[in-house]
Formats: sequence, C-alpha cells, structure tokens
Amino acid sequence: MIDRILIEIDRGLKLLSTPTIQNRDRPDKDILESASLSSSEKKIHSKYMRVNHSGEICAQGLYRGQLFFNKNKNIKNKLTEAALEEIDHLAWCDSRINELNGSKSKLNPILYISSFSIGATASIIDDKYNLGFLSETESQVALHLESHIKKLNPLDKKTLKIIQSMKEEEEGHKKSAVEMGGVELPKIIKKMMSVASKIMTSITYKI
Ligand SMILES: [Fe+2]
Ligand SMILES: [Fe+2]
Repeated sequence: MIDRILIEIDRGLKLLSTPTIQNRDRPDKDILESASLSSSEKKIHSKYMRVNHSGEICAQGLYRGQLFFNKNKNIKNKLTEAALEEIDHLAWCDSRINELNGSKSKLNPILYISSFSIGATASIIDDKYNLGFLSETESQVALHLESHIKKLNPLDKKTLKIIQSMKEEEEGHKKSAVEMGGVELPKIIKKMMSVASKIMTSITYKI
C-alpha cells in the first residue's frame, strides 16, 4: 500500500510540474492560426483554455483516485483507457494556452488532490455509483465545453477544434461509464456537483 501511495504522489507531482506529452496529434494541427484575433480576444481564449486545462487536471485526479481502490478489472481497463485520452486533452490545452500567451491555474495542485480524494471515495462506496459519478462528471464537462464553443470568437478555429474534439470524447466517456453499469445519481448530488464545478470554473478563469 505504501508503495502505491508513493507511486501516486510521484505521478501527481510529475503531472503538475512537467509539460504533458501528448500521445495523439492535436486535432487542430492542420488549421492555420487566425491573424485577425485581437490580443484581448487571445487573452480571453487563453483563460477559457486555462479553465479547461484545470478541468483536465481534475479528470486526471478523479480517474487516478477511482483506480486506486478499484478491484474490477473491466472497470480498470476502461478507466485506464479514458485516462489516456484525458492526458491528451491536458497536453492539448497546455500547448494551446502557451500559443495564446496565457498561463495555467495556480490552483491545479489543490484541484488534483481534491479530485483524487473524491474519486477514491466514490470507488470505495460502490461500482455502480462510482461509474454513475464518472458519467455525471463527463456529462457536465461536455456541457461546459459546449458553453465555451458558443462563447469563443469563431475566427479562432484552432481553439474551437480542440474543444470540439474534447467534447466528443467526454461524451464517449460518459457513454462507456453508463454501459459499464453507472447509475443515475440523485438530483441533489448532481446539483452539488454542478455548483462545485461552477465555483471551480469561475475561480480558475481568474487565477
Ligand atoms: Fe477531458
Ligand atoms: Fe472525459
């Protein structure tokens, strides 16, 4: 157990302190940068990408936490597969923030630790609630990404393409969590998750 805790601490520290390496090319790689975006528009877009990057930090924490106590091999394989896709999301957001001259959130270490704890707790309770929690998280993330798509200046086709691809994959993660047996969570829990995510997104937009 001590070994596993040390491995997770090492993994978390690496994730938070080194640039993330992508396994797949960025979906916007063939799209040219728009020359018409103003510096203030770039700044706003970099903040949206900072929020999305922090969301992906939370996703990593959540997945690692859920894997920590999980004993179901089928769930383990699916979670590991989704976590790999989320690593790409993290890397895509990271590099796009740099291109837009933005910065990542200072809250990422706290967000990672809290998400890991929530994921680990959910996985102790029960598989079907663990997966239900995952499905609801992915669903809320997809809705949130959709709201960014509506807010972005459509001239920034690169950022739009990244967010669009991420949204499609989050919807896929939700679908597979439901297929593995995830149940619908009580309304009050969903509401609490939505409030927590709104607080997280509005703070990371600023810092
Ligand atoms: Fe993601
Ligand atoms: Fe996801």
